[in-house]
Amino acid sequence: MGPMRDVMYINGGEPLRGEITVRGAKNFVSKAMVASLLADGPSELRNVPAIRDVAVVQGLLELHGVKVMVDDAAGTLQLDPTDVESAHVADIDAHAGSSRIPILFCGPLLHRLGEAFIPDLGGCRIGDRPINFHLDILRQFGAVVDKQESGIHIHAPTRLRGTKLALPYPSVGATEQLLLTAVRAQGVTELSGAAIEPEIMDLINVLQKMGAIISVDTDRVIRIEGVDVLHGYRHTSLSDRIEAASWASAALATGGDITVRGAVQPDMTTYLNTFRKVGGGFEVLDDGIRFFHPGGDLHSIVLETDVHPGFMTDWQQPLVVALTQAKGLSIVHETVYENRFGFADALRGMGATIQVYRECLGGHPCRFGQRNFRHSAVISGPTPLAAADIEVPDLRGGFSHLIAALAAKGTSTVKGIDLIDRGYEHFTDKLTALGADFSRD
Ligand code: EPU
Repeated sequence: MGPMRDVMYINGGEPLRGEITVRGAKNFVSKAMVASLLADGPSELRNVPAIRDVAVVQGLLELHGVKVMVDDAAGTLQLDPTDVESAHVADIDAHAGSSRIPILFCGPLLHRLGEAFIPDLGGCRIGDRPINFHLDILRQFGAVVDKQESGIHIHAPTRLRGTKLALPYPSVGATEQLLLTAVRAQGVTELSGAAIEPEIMDLINVLQKMGAIISVDTDRVIRIEGVDVLHGYRHTSLSDRIEAASWASAALATGGDITVRGAVQPDMTTYLNTFRKVGGGFEVLDDGIRFFHPGGDLHSIVLETDVHPGFMTDWQQPLVVALTQAKGLSIVHETVYENRFGFADALRGMGATIQVYRECLGGHPCRFGQRNFRHSAVISGPTPLAAADIEVPDLRGGFSHLIAALAAKGTSTVKGIDLIDRGYEHFTDKLTALGADFSRD
């Protein structure tokens, strides 16, 4: 992909109308792929989207000797871990910068090979994104962590042992790290303060199919009884509720009407409540949800992002674009990532009125309050958006820029578009289906 491939020219100002389909959740599929490493035989994953993050995890699995067969059209993956072996450090390193998934290989690799290696981690630039929880968890299971310049070397001198631990914050990745490590550790593991996102519940479904014993108790406690052997699984991924909400926000921001086949109501309850409060209309169908702008003014709101069952951080940026079209002052307090309002600069350049503050506004004090992070936003609307030249900062911020360009009159140039391919399947085809006027070089 040369630099010219990364640019999109968008003639905005027209409502997006039509129908699109979302498939499996990016933030589950990649983890289910890693889980296949734990099995003594092949697994099959269905409803897999053709996105770059899937290709990255496929590449990493293949480096470790997993045979992966992909059928993009059918959305199926066959994963055979029979010949798993240690990968060369340099090869893993070649994938550094493109994904944070390598950290989740540790538990399965420690069980199978007794060692694992993590290169410098990539992922979106939305905060520091430390891995201290992950490393603490691995140490508690008995692993030895050795930080070197090339990356982090981890080994297990003996079989990993179950443990009792509490997370200081319900981190999605750390909870997944614990699950993928505990299922084959010796004895019982108990985690309190666990994340309970639907994607984690679906990972638990997969692990249970493989032979794991996991119970989810009230109050964020997860208990795992380690077993000696796990088998391959067959599983259909839950739907991508972040992508579904992104299109819903696009419908609202452009004054359009989008039916999202594959959107699932129970995974989006909190989003739907907010969508309704802003003044959006929706209709839950048997196989999806129709999202539309019912005409008239949109309403300003006070919103706080949170871990599940709260309003997802990944829903925040696309919705903020719609809030620029709402009447009055909206307040958005981001409590999951310290640095997720960078995308607002570009919106301001397009005519939006958005101020970003260090204080915790409109909600409860959060971890970022006293630490100098601009993590609260005040949006005043409605303001017409004007076309601009913008550069994609991260996956969700990038999609939000796209929505802003589609809502803005005139021709916008959006650079760095390939970042969006990481998590939005065939999004240009979907835009075409929705009547968008654009070209991509
Ligand atoms: N955190 C730590 N230490 C750690 C791990 C996390 O301090 O060792 C902090 C993070 O810095 C952050 C908070 O805990 O402030 C929550 O992070 P979490 O671990 O929950 O996030 P993650 O597992 O790295 C996943 C998704 C994100 C999504 C978050 C929250 C994947 C691959 N990524 O990240 O998705 O925003 O959960 O739901 O599953 C995206 O799809 O664009 C995306 C960024």
